[in-house]
Amino acid sequence: RPRVLSGIQPTADSFHLGNFLGALRQWVDLQREHQPFFFIADQHAITVEHDPKLLRERTLRCVAQLLAAGVDPARSAVFVQSHVPEHSQLSWVLQCLTGFGEARRMTQFKDKSAKGGEGAASVGLFTYPILQAADILLYRPHYVPVGEDQRQHLELTRDLAQRFNHRFKKTFRLPEPYILKATAKIGDLQEPTAKMSKSASSPSGIVEMLDPPAASAKKIRSAVTDSDTEIRYDPETKPGVSNLLTIHSALTGTAIGDLEEQYAGRGYGDLKKELADIVVDLVTPFRDRTLELLDDQQHLTDVLAQGAEQARAVAQATLADVYRRVGFVAAA
Ligand code: TYM
Repeated sequence: RPRVLSGIQPTADSFHLGNFLGALRQWVDLQREHQPFFFIADQHAITVEHDPKLLRERTLRCVAQLLAAGVDPARSAVFVQSHVPEHSQLSWVLQCLTGFGEARRMTQFKDKSAKGGEGAASVGLFTYPILQAADILLYRPHYVPVGEDQRQHLELTRDLAQRFNHRFKKTFRLPEPYILKATAKIGDLQEPTAKMSKSASSPSGIVEMLDPPAASAKKIRSAVTDSDTEIRYDPETKPGVSNLLTIHSALTGTAIGDLEEQYAGRGYGDLKKELADIVVDLVTPFRDRTLELLDDQQHLTDVLAQGAEQARAVAQATLADVYRRVGFVAAA
């Protein structure tokens, strides 16, 4: 079975609808016919200032949410990045193959360091994409299901894999990004041209999967639209309405064209109200199940222990190849 790998950062109390539609749903779907490795990127989460207690809590909340979304530990290895030291070990080797200028071109570093200035950003934030390349290449996956914002990191990953294979010997598989066009970039409800994001300026634009459902319904009903009245998909001139149609279509499986017909002659209020109900139907059981899972932390840590064991078996074998190929003498 083809391998799949992906990760998520434990940097928020809750996944948001962008994470769910852009990535998680695909993780769950791909489980059936692939061999998946899904992990919580706790090492990536310390590239910016963080609170240790929160990080610990959020890491477990991530596991619970993955399981609540339908990730099945019997099919997928679910683990925490820091439990598999090979990620950092391979990252070092890849750092030595990455050009300084090449790393500097990563737009996420530019965006994230923009606020405090480059001088205030950590070196870890700078090398973040190289750790991500290591995360991926260790498992030799065929596909990496992510949202559009990860595309550049996937390109770097492929470049590094190719470079290593060329300079040493064929070791890594070139992974394909698995990015579904329809849900690759879910917009913020208040600022629909920007992606829905944990670091958004206002919480009212983000549908948090673990918020009380009524709060999410309210956010949908207050979503920014435009001064026109027509319900039509046109991201250029009607980003707000188009984003709502995208979310509706993704959750109901109705084609956008059919939705346009269905809502012809009706007002934005109708669309928002119906979408609010659809979102409530999604988040209510998700939230209940997550809270239930969080009551049994032993189960969560058992899942992680089993996942780390499966992951390490693969990661150790890849790292051993890499060490041999770069000329490290084997430890006796
Ligand atoms: P993270 O934690 O920011 O996001 C997790 C996943 O959610 C997707 N996503 C979105 N998709 C559509 N619309 C949005 N508004 C939206 N917001 C987020 C992201 O694209 C991602 O797939 N660097 C990664 C974590 C990571 C990783 C990896 C991923 C570390 N190592 C190896 C894949 C492979 C990140 O910060 O994702």
